[in-house]
Amino acid sequence: MKGLRAILGLVAGLVLAGDLSPAPRPAMPARVGPDDALVPEGRFVFERNCLVCHGKWGDGRGEMATGMVPRPRKFTAGTFKFRSTPSGSLPTDTDLARTIRGGLFGTSMPTFQHLSDREVKAVIEYVKTFSRKWTAPENYAAPLSLPQPPAWLSDAAARPQHARAGRLVFLANCAPCHGSEGRGHGPAAENLEDDWGQPALPADLSRPSTKSGPEPRDLYRVLVTGLNGTPMPSFLESTTEAQRWELVAYLLSLRAGEGGL
Ligand code: HEC
Ligand code: HEC
Repeated sequence: MKGLRAILGLVAGLVLAGDLSPAPRPAMPARVGPDDALVPEGRFVFERNCLVCHGKWGDGRGEMATGMVPRPRKFTAGTFKFRSTPSGSLPTDTDLARTIRGGLFGTSMPTFQHLSDREVKAVIEYVKTFSRKWTAPENYAAPLSLPQPPAWLSDAAARPQHARAGRLVFLANCAPCHGSEGRGHGPAAENLEDDWGQPALPADLSRPSTKSGPEPRDLYRVLVTGLNGTPMPSFLESTTEAQRWELVAYLLSLRAGEGGL
């Protein structure tokens, strides 16, 4: 009997092993909540580099924060604008590292190139201690897929035609907030507020970079994720991938001062 049970156990084990491959893409990070082993070091990095703006308690009320527009983020709310994850979800560690390393163009959020990878990792874990959102698995999600830009995007002869198509999508979906010239003064822009009770100004898209970066893929990412805590919605459901790249082409033409096309 013992032998039979062992064999049955073995068979069950094999069936289970069969079920586990091929491994699905994990929808969840390996860890929920901050990595306690890195928190003390993260606090050290935070107090030296971030506290002046984000405040000792992560409430955005650091000494330097007074009068700052936009305000330093309150980490206590656990809401992050710049992510690769779907609307409403927490950012990934890679997203936070991109913000910390690269800063946010046109705001007071500086670049932190001098920190080591370990220091960036540690400060990210410390930032997670400020909000309970980080301890709930349902707030996590796998990143959305970010495709490579189509070849025509870097082809000066082919791009204008796509940009013209993008302009039509822009006029219908974006101009109410960003304005028909993309400078941020659309008819719906006036009374917009963010989740922190501050006026939410639609970005001036004729500037050489957006907050989250200067690359075409940075624009594409914003279009699929939206910016949590702000009126900037995700266009993942309402546009196709082709339309999003056409929009990106139009946004690049606005930057080059060719918005009229
Ligand atoms: C001189 C002020 C200043 C300092 C110093 C500073 N920040 Fe910021 N930070 C800001 C401002 C302002 C924003 C908000 C920008 C916005 O909302 O557009 C911000 C936003 C952020 C965000 C939110 C990004 C998102 O997706 O919403 C993170 C994360 C962040 N900072 C991390 C850090 C860390 C970590 C440090 C220290 C290593 C740091 N910041 C130091 C001013 C600062
Ligand atoms: C309901 C108003 C609204 C609509 C509609 C809207 N936006 Fe925005 N958008 C905003 C606001 C507000 C911001 C600024 C958020 C911030 O930085 O806090 C923004 C920011 C952006 C940014 C800058 C992101 C960054 O990293 O700084 C881009 C790019 C953008 N929008 C593109 C678009 C495009 C393209 C469309 C149409 C497909 C669109 N938006 C539709 C309100 C809107």
